[in-house]
Amino acid sequence: MGTERKRKVSLFDVVADPSVSGKISKTNGAMATGSSNGKNDGSSLVNRWNGRPYSARYYEILEKRKSLPVWQQKDEFLQTLKKNQTLILVGETGSGKTTQIPQFVLEAVDMETPDKRKKMMIACTQPRRVAAMSVSRRVAEEMDVTIGEEVGYSIRFEDCSSARTVLKYLTDGMLLREAMTDPLLERYKVIILDEAHERTLATDVLFGLLKEVLKNRPDLKLVVMSATLEAEKFQNYFYGAPLMKVPGRLHPVEVFYTSEPERDYLEAAIRTIVQIHMLEPPGDILVFLTGEEEIEDACRKINKEIGNMGNQVGPVKVVPLYSSLPPAMQQKIFEPAPPPSEEGGRPGRKIVVATNIAETSLTIDGIVYVIDPGFAKQKVYNPRVRVESLLVSPISKASAHQRAGRAGRTQPGKCFRLYTERSFSNDLVNQTYPEILRSNLANTVLTLKKLGIDDLVHFDFMDPPAPETLMRALEVLNYLGALDDDGNLTKMGEIMSEFPLDPQMSKMLVVSPEFNCSNEILSVSAMLSVPNCFVRPREAQKAADEAKARFGHIDGDHLTLLNVYHAYKQNSEDPTWCYENFINQRTMKAADNVRQQLVRIMARYNLKLCSTDFNSRDYYVNIRKALLAGYFMQVAHLEKTGHYLTVKDNQVVHLHPSTCLDHKPEWVIYNEYVLTSRNFIRTVTDVRGEWLVDVAPHYYDLENFPQCEAKRVLERLYKKREREKEDSKNRR
Ligand SMILES: Nc1ncnc2c1ncn2[C@@H]1O[C@H](COP(=O)(O)OP(=O)(O)O)[C@@H](O)[C@H]1O
Ligand SMILES: [Mg+2]
Repeated sequence: MGTERKRKVSLFDVVADPSVSGKISKTNGAMATGSSNGKNDGSSLVNRWNGRPYSARYYEILEKRKSLPVWQQKDEFLQTLKKNQTLILVGETGSGKTTQIPQFVLEAVDMETPDKRKKMMIACTQPRRVAAMSVSRRVAEEMDVTIGEEVGYSIRFEDCSSARTVLKYLTDGMLLREAMTDPLLERYKVIILDEAHERTLATDVLFGLLKEVLKNRPDLKLVVMSATLEAEKFQNYFYGAPLMKVPGRLHPVEVFYTSEPERDYLEAAIRTIVQIHMLEPPGDILVFLTGEEEIEDACRKINKEIGNMGNQVGPVKVVPLYSSLPPAMQQKIFEPAPPPSEEGGRPGRKIVVATNIAETSLTIDGIVYVIDPGFAKQKVYNPRVRVESLLVSPISKASAHQRAGRAGRTQPGKCFRLYTERSFSNDLVNQTYPEILRSNLANTVLTLKKLGIDDLVHFDFMDPPAPETLMRALEVLNYLGALDDDGNLTKMGEIMSEFPLDPQMSKMLVVSPEFNCSNEILSVSAMLSVPNCFVRPREAQKAADEAKARFGHIDGDHLTLLNVYHAYKQNSEDPTWCYENFINQRTMKAADNVRQQLVRIMARYNLKLCSTDFNSRDYYVNIRKALLAGYFMQVAHLEKTGHYLTVKDNQVVHLHPSTCLDHKPEWVIYNEYVLTSRNFIRTVTDVRGEWLVDVAPHYYDLENFPQCEAKRVLERLYKKREREKEDSKNRR
């Protein structure tokens, strides 16, 4: 501890450049010192935010809050913030960073502006939507205000904030979007970049951006918060900003490995849960799995296995946690374990089955046992063949360490790693690679261009992406017409960047009026932007498949989604109809909401809302052509051998088993590339070769096309077009 303190002092010395700090403290005359102003430390009886007396619940939570480790350093934190423009804060998960620090800042910083109607705000970014929602709700409760008023959140397609909002939790992606219209982020007084260790794409871009913004806005402050962090790397990057460490409240965690590699980690995880429940003393269990389907499957199996054991064991409450779970369900992770079934019976246990969200983003108290199979879904990108996909991959050592730490929050715990110790030492990388090194950057480059950053090569990335990835992104945007040949943003690019969507989808929407089907393309885009709408319960798979088939469109999955959307609207959004047809009503509601927001953006840019006459032969043809106008780079050709090859990149792919297509069209457009044991393309629609040369001749330019069957077919199609042109000329 002693050395720790010394180290902190010396770090502070580094940044004590009198010219800079002098300037800052002057411009921040409004900053109070610590909590000594007593503004809102709970001693007052009236809530400063809404003038109402505090509820009993407020005081109840306040007591708990005060016991969180960050409260020990509240004054130190505020002093350091006052003296510095940038501050880095590292603290164990659960120490109270995300919920408390923004409130400390609120107490100390004056949010008034000379214009009384306009308040300044504090932003706190989260890489995950779930965290933004969950934490903001919690903080609203802690501050005894209504969510969406003084405390709000903003995630893609959902803004829950108001003119009164002074503290806003938002995804890092949303803050980046805000910067597009407010380049100096002038509505904020303090920006907190939370979960910095996650190194998401948006957070990494924000790092570079904020460095510039801070130079131009001496009144703005930045707090970078993280659970684990290569602290020195961050300090170097932020010009030696001071580092504050919040000592954790970690109890020892005993780590167990399997002696042999597990063949089926899901089965092994369930086996381990059952054993813990039978043999170990009370304490809740947290299991890390990779995604919704796997988690729901696991929850069913756990309930069944433990149900079969009857009264031999205590009752369990099995709670899933993944990003697409509705907020009310997410809240269940904070509920206590169930009581014994009868007086004096065996104690109950809560079992949380979660994705990586529970690694650092959300802290669940009471966890004593952690089961870590060692996998997570991660984005991977191969610029050479332009494939980005989510892949279940081994986690890093840092992740494994974090996961284990979840077991020691409230008392000593145990972590069961479902892999061998050898595998841990030899196979796991030290740190997860920053997302920017594993992503398709088309969207990021479009955003940066819109932000006026033209020189991407010299942009101050903490970890610069591979030049090839940047080149690929520029190339894609050029093909889409968003950038001209000199790499400058075009008018088309400007409009595209307004949509919070992938550039391909934005392009498709922007040009859809030209194909007289923007209404339908809006619906398809909305459906593609929400999770899968088809429900397939294990006990009713056949009925579910039959229901799905009734929506099937002969030309493919995009049109099937359109059918679902239309049927939903025709049936007046009726929940019973959804239930009977194995359609997820929540998803449909979300799609409807997304659609409305996209309509608003279309209206802002005078993009016409139109449809082809439903009885016209061209109704579906036009929609398919519009799809192609955005996704012409995501096309596969059926080879004589019977498999598909992606156009230009020549990757062997298969139609995903979920497709409704009952035939193999010669050309298909696809929405997504799925890497598993095989390469699948998912959400596919039949398109015609002729349309490729009509809609995207610049991409289907045979001069730079690899030799393959598709090229020969295209050659014939081009010749045919030539002949047709000749014929029509001769006829005239
Ligand atoms: N919605 C909630 N309900 C109950 N407790 C919560 C909720 N959200 C957070 N907490 C609790 O608040 C405490 C602090 O969490 P947090 O601020 O997220 O820590 P950190 O950001 O340092 O990981 C934890 O004990 C956590 O369990
Ligand atoms: Mg946190």
